Amino acid sequence: MNNQNNNNPVSCSSSVMECMERIRDLKRQKNAIILAHYYTLPEVQQIADFTGDSLALSAQAAKTDAAILLFAGVHFMAETAKILAPDKKVLLPEPQAGCSLADSCTADRFAEFLKQYPDHTVVSYVNTSVGVKALTDICCTSGNAVEVIRSLPETQKIVFAPDRNLGSYIQRITGRKNMVIWDGACEVHEKFSAEKILEMKRRYPQAKVLAHPECKEEVLAVADVVGSTAALLKFASSDPCDTFLVVTEAGILFQMQQDNPNKRFIPVPPAGVESGCNECEYMKMVTLEKIYRTLLEESPEVILEEEIRRKAERSIQRMLEIKRS
Ligand code: 13P
Ligand code: SF4
Repeated sequence: MNNQNNNNPVSCSSSVMECMERIRDLKRQKNAIILAHYYTLPEVQQIADFTGDSLALSAQAAKTDAAILLFAGVHFMAETAKILAPDKKVLLPEPQAGCSLADSCTADRFAEFLKQYPDHTVVSYVNTSVGVKALTDICCTSGNAVEVIRSLPETQKIVFAPDRNLGSYIQRITGRKNMVIWDGACEVHEKFSAEKILEMKRRYPQAKVLAHPECKEEVLAVADVVGSTAALLKFASSDPCDTFLVVTEAGILFQMQQDNPNKRFIPVPPAGVESGCNECEYMKMVTLEKIYRTLLEESPEVILEEEIRRKAERSIQRMLEIKRS
């Protein structure tokens, strides 16, 4: 460790570049890697070893040989990494970084709910706690939800949790009749409205609209493309259109712009807001300063009860076995 770190052990320097350098030093010393979700702050994505959507980051956590895995994202994502990499030290820079969707479905309430549906296969979105995953037969992310549902027999009764918008979307795509959907939502994606998108389309008639399936049905109905974070990034790069209206968490714009410097990406604001970004406050809680402290102190660490972890792991492994389309 350099002198500056010794003089000032738990504070990142005032300069972003200096702070990044200290984080890099710590990563080397400790054989640590940083996984960051596309919704985190641009400087956090820049310091990460891997950026991705929740599916890609889960897969990365499962195969890393680093000793320490720092998860720059929200709580359920770090838990997922620990479920898949139980022998690693998994660090979460901000334990208060939750998720409205995961919080809408506690393990106790979900266990009670499932008693009504004993003959159903339980499919849960990865945005859930380890306790809910332990009650789940097969996990999914927005990147593979349709494939996961299609992997089940046509007649199979299904419980889908916790996102009602993603659940209804995959039900419309797959035509499955026997699906019971938990009534949860993401507070960020719920804020978009069709009215606002149509207003912006009038201003940018040449633009294509990209939307995440956690948005309401009325929003998805006016989108040109509906897809997971990774699918939207892929479309933005491969499509010849040069202007896009982005209807998801605004952190994704950083990677979109990096990949396509000559294209224009315009964030759609929430309903009733004139301009600006729709952001997940939890994702933005992860700062360089917190990453530095967490690596230095090797805390806070994600600790899971082994029996629950093992049950949860089964549902994620079943998901990882299904190829993303
Ligand atoms: P992805 O599965 O697309 O990474 O999305 C995670 C999430 O939290 C969406 O709000
Ligand atoms: Fe959860 Fe929504 Fe934030 Fe994603 S954007 S982490 S679903 S609150």
